[in-house]
Amino acid sequence: MPDISTTYMGLKLKSPIIAASSGLTNSLEDIKKIEAAGAGAVVLKSLFEEEIITEMDRQMNKMHSENYLYPETMEFYENYDVDDTLTSYLKLINDVKRESNIPVIASINAITAHNWPYFAKSLEDAGADALELNISISPDNFEQSSEEYETTHFSIIKEVLKNVKIPVSIKISYYFSNLAGIIQKLSATGIAGLVLFNRFYSPDIDTESLEVVPTHIFSDKKDYILPLRWIGISSGTAKCDLSATTGVHDSNTMIKMILAGAKTVQIASSLYQNGVETIERYNREIEKWMNKKEFETIDQFWGILSQKQVSNPAGYFRLQFMKHFSNK
Ligand SMILES: Cc1cc2nc3c(=O)[nH]c(=O)nc-3n(C[C@H](O)[C@H](O)[C@H](O)COP(=O)(O)O)c2cc1C
Repeated sequence: MPDISTTYMGLKLKSPIIAASSGLTNSLEDIKKIEAAGAGAVVLKSLFEEEIITEMDRQMNKMHSENYLYPETMEFYENYDVDDTLTSYLKLINDVKRESNIPVIASINAITAHNWPYFAKSLEDAGADALELNISISPDNFEQSSEEYETTHFSIIKEVLKNVKIPVSIKISYYFSNLAGIIQKLSATGIAGLVLFNRFYSPDIDTESLEVVPTHIFSDKKDYILPLRWIGISSGTAKCDLSATTGVHDSNTMIKMILAGAKTVQIASSLYQNGVETIERYNREIEKWMNKKEFETIDQFWGILSQKQVSNPAGYFRLQFMKHFSNK
């Protein structure tokens, strides 16, 4: 029987399939089902920085109104209401660590480099095995330069790494002017993992109602093409592990991602659409394919089709369909 266990950010995983951060990873009950189905790890639903800040402001105002003047920062945090978002999140980490064996990656939806010393450390103290920073800054600020946009990413990483010992990964978008260059630079900051790519909300236009409307929440199975290319381009030179997310809807695509150089895949849409139990089938299908190809371990085929390893590296870089159209 082939061995589908692997390592990611120094963690030992039973499978390369990770349940991505979503509403399905927000309760002990669901996480137990994900573990029973054979996932390698779980990324908890993100703790939203803005949400906590709003809540902290509310608490701060309450304390002021109760004549609790000028609280020292740590003192404030220590007296912080027990029934708040952060406390519930820490309790979830605690519960999952106590009642299951699945590696737990806590997730923060980060937009600034402030507030990190306390948040990141408390997630570590609660028992998280690793931390994923979902850096959700949309590059739609007309006043901001690309450099400032990039610098925010580095500042967030620096602040977090200063405060925790557990491995840290970042989940980024593909909105960078030189994606290959930034992936290299980010991978060399001391992070242990890079997750390519998160999905931003993109609106559509309804030509009947003449309104701007939300698009699909779930990815399409063809969306995997984008992360596949950038995993393939980056994996040979990145200084940290890579994880693929967006559009991974079947075991064949998972295998492609590993061949391109991803250590793990993170899936959400297919779990919503097919149920978390489907992870078990994906694991069996990966084993079946490994058997057929005579691979005994994941490492034996990991990255063998990355841009660095493949016999035709130009395939990853070609920008247009010149050959295709010239034959018409
Ligand atoms: C309903 C839903 C909620 C999500 N919530 C989060 C979140 O809180 N934090 C995060 O980093 N990603 C979140 N994601 C993104 C997923 O983690 C995943 O990266 C993305 O959906 C691409 O994977 P997929 O194509 O398998 O859906 C969410 C996705 C869905 C569908």
